[in-house]
Amino acid sequence: MSVSEFSGDYVVIHARDNGVQVFGLTRGQDTRFHHTEKLDKGELMIAQFTEHTSAVKIRGKATVYTRYGVVDTEKV
Ligand code: TRP
Repeated sequence: MSVSEFSGDYVVIHARDNGVQVFGLTRGQDTRFHHTEKLDKGELMIAQFTEHTSAVKIRGKATVYTRYGVVDTEKV
């Protein structure tokens, strides 16, 4: 599937603290980090699941908005 055909879900990550980390993990047989992003308090990251990204890991205090609902890292 080419990138132009891909239309993956988006997630919105709202950092509630300084130093929240967002990791993108590769799609396919080999699952590894391919990107890390640091967010400070109040910053938003809007990220898509793509041909290259199958999973996202979030470390720190954040609220995550997905099509399945809203999840808070500290209240799961
Ligand atoms: N180059 C990555 C990609 O196209 C960028 C990316 C997309 C990403 N979604 C992400 C990075 C989620 C971190 C987290 O897949």
